[in-house]
Amino acid sequence: MDRFVRNFIIASIIYLGISSLLGIAMLHQTRLLSLKFVHSHLNMLGWVSMMIYGVGYHILPKFAGKMIKYPKMGEIQFWASNISLIGMLIFYAMNVATPSASYAMITTFFGVVQVFSIGLFFYNMLATLLPASPPPQR
Ligand code: HEM
Ligand code: HEM
Repeated sequence: MDRFVRNFIIASIIYLGISSLLGIAMLHQTRLLSLKFVHSHLNMLGWVSMMIYGVGYHILPKFAGKMIKYPKMGEIQFWASNISLIGMLIFYAMNVATPSASYAMITTFFGVVQVFSIGLFFYNMLATLLPASPPPQR
């Protein structure tokens, strides 16, 4: 298993743990519901998407009898998606606590990096899966 594949799966499980704790805190303290976006995106971009990236990078090329075309791009995607997710959620929460135009701008910037990382997955998977396989050698 490539290192970034393993890292995606480990990160995804960590996000599930953190988001569940935040979920419980939101149940307990309704004023924390202002952080619902942090909880939902720790789950949807952290737990769910990163598990899909990890399992997808590992399994989908194998189904097609291929290797990941650009493993280095997968490594870059791992860092881009994690740094941007953490950055986006920290600055979102800071903007909730102390609203400020610069926090909002930095949140958006990290959101754009997150979209970039989604683009890397999109490109790498299609570049891996779409090309026709060579015919079997006799
Ligand atoms: C211990 C586990 C969890 C707890 C205690 C919890 C708790 C909560 C709470 C209190 C809310 C706010 C509801 C409201 O607006 O009144 C919420 C929203 C949400 N949760 Fe969780 N949650 C948990 C796990 C999960 C998981 C595993 C996922 C996804 C895989 C998830 C996805 C969401 C989403 C998408 C929302 C936003 C829904 C909306 O806007 O209506 N949660 N959760
Ligand atoms: C670059 C990635 C993403 C960005 C920048 C983003 C941004 C946002 C924003 C601004 C909201 C509205 C929050 C509010 O009403 O206060 C939202 C809501 C939501 N998004 Fe995303 N999103 C992204 C990816 C995703 C993905 C991949 C999923 C699901 C797999 C998802 C699921 C949801 C859900 C369920 C809600 C409603 C719950 C909530 O209000 O927190 N998002 N998103």
